[in-house]
Amino acid sequence: MVDWAPLKALHAAGTGQRIADLFAEDPGRAAAFSLRLDDMLLDFSKTAVTQEVRRALIALCDAAGLAARREAMFTGAAINTTEGRAVLHTALRNLDGGPVRVEGRDVMPGVRATLDRMRDFAGRVRRGELRGAGGAITDVVNIGIGGSDLGPAMATRALAPYHDGPRCHFVSNVDGADIADTLCGLDATRTLVIVVSKTFTTVETMTNARTARAWMEAGGGDASTQFAAVSTAPERTAAFGVPSAQVFGFEDWVGGRYSVWGPVGLALMLAIGPDAFDAFLRGGQAMDAHFRTADWTDNLPVMLGLVGLWHAHVCGYPTRAVLPYDQRLARLPAYLQQLEMESNGKRVEIDGRVVEGRTAPVVWGEPGTDGQHAFFQLLHQGTDVVPCEFLIAARGHEPDLAHQHRLLVANCLAQSEALMIGRPLDAARAVLADRGLDAEELERQARHRVFPGNRPSVTLAYPQLTPFTLGRIIALYEHRVFVEGVILGINSFDQWGVELGKELATSLGPMVDGQDGTDGKDGSTAALIDFLRSAGRP
Ligand code: F6P
Repeated sequence: MVDWAPLKALHAAGTGQRIADLFAEDPGRAAAFSLRLDDMLLDFSKTAVTQEVRRALIALCDAAGLAARREAMFTGAAINTTEGRAVLHTALRNLDGGPVRVEGRDVMPGVRATLDRMRDFAGRVRRGELRGAGGAITDVVNIGIGGSDLGPAMATRALAPYHDGPRCHFVSNVDGADIADTLCGLDATRTLVIVVSKTFTTVETMTNARTARAWMEAGGGDASTQFAAVSTAPERTAAFGVPSAQVFGFEDWVGGRYSVWGPVGLALMLAIGPDAFDAFLRGGQAMDAHFRTADWTDNLPVMLGLVGLWHAHVCGYPTRAVLPYDQRLARLPAYLQQLEMESNGKRVEIDGRVVEGRTAPVVWGEPGTDGQHAFFQLLHQGTDVVPCEFLIAARGHEPDLAHQHRLLVANCLAQSEALMIGRPLDAARAVLADRGLDAEELERQARHRVFPGNRPSVTLAYPQLTPFTLGRIIALYEHRVFVEGVILGINSFDQWGVELGKELATSLGPMVDGQDGTDGKDGSTAALIDFLRSAGRP
């Protein structure tokens, strides 16, 4: 169990200390509280973390046995104890690393063989050799949900400038609107459907897969050649009718939310090509090497994790905003919601004891600058402090629009500065006095224009959002979640909290259909079923 007392004491002692003053006291603060990994910069100087706080945070790593846990993960120990599984998404990007053994068996030959098959398949689709009934494949529809959707959907959007393959679309929701809107306008004879499901039992995915197959058959496509599948369950993909040559397997030591690096990333590989996909994997591998070898103080995932713990557990801030100033990272907040909240949204420690205090904060966010015109009001003047994490590239992919990128950068920096420095009452009064307001009106208005400031943020800056850099960013967040989970003493790799709702949905289906009565349901649920059944009649 973590001893938070020293950190809480430091937090209490620092109350009243303003982050902006820390810069005045220490001109070297920006450099001292920033980390570099090659051309990537992680700046956490705009937080209340001081040298003493950092020392106390780093002490948590040794107290929790982080080094041994990290090695256990990389070397294939069954650290997912409630499912008895190893956690080896790192093996998927261990491109030129050594053997990785699970129960004595080296998994790397299998990883490389699958990657080779993916490359071959993607190459044939992209070159127009593997065709649909009506000609070369123009569109790919990825059907999956959760980790079987968010990773490839987020990364495919992020890397749009590198697309030179078929258009990729993503369907996840069981809401028929999702698949109907996606398939509308596509040519069933030139569309490839990839059904992605680790278990190949997920109701949403299997329902959408059947809908897509019916659409393809009705539209003249050939479902026997225009379907591929990604799963750990080859017997189920065969039962669905996907030819084994178009099934890409992986093993149970890859968690759904950590799976974009392997066959779950097939749509991404189809979009950007095998070479760019390799660069993406190499980015992840570079972050792995850094995480595994750098000292705690210089280690980006470790420090990002520790700063996260400081904010959530010591300062008590209940949420964290992820704010990519990068429109192509629009799905990153959703991706991180699953990564962080499904991994660390737990209430018991590995041994079953109830955790004291908070585990994962609520993670949310949207790209800037759009968010500025929506919820930033609350970030600046609301009653909750929300630690913010900004992401920004030094340059975009549109050289003709460099002036727009400069505006984007200026806005990003302005927000973190404004959150930190705020605007006190005197300054608000001075602004209004300059506008010539009379004394009474000035007093009436001034308090509305006060920004308390002292609101912490972290900025991750990188030259450009390339495949390699995206790989580093995702692996950075994966390891950050791992660090937080180890220090909290929880299992970050199971997700039992999603099961109860799935079970109840199964039993509610026949009631919604009207086949079963609502006996035994609580009054609210029964009344809602009655309402929706009667209001749903055409
Ligand atoms: O419902 C949660 C979950 O199990 C996620 O962890 C997973 O990413 C998602 O469902 C999809 O599961 P599958 O890939 O087995 O369809």
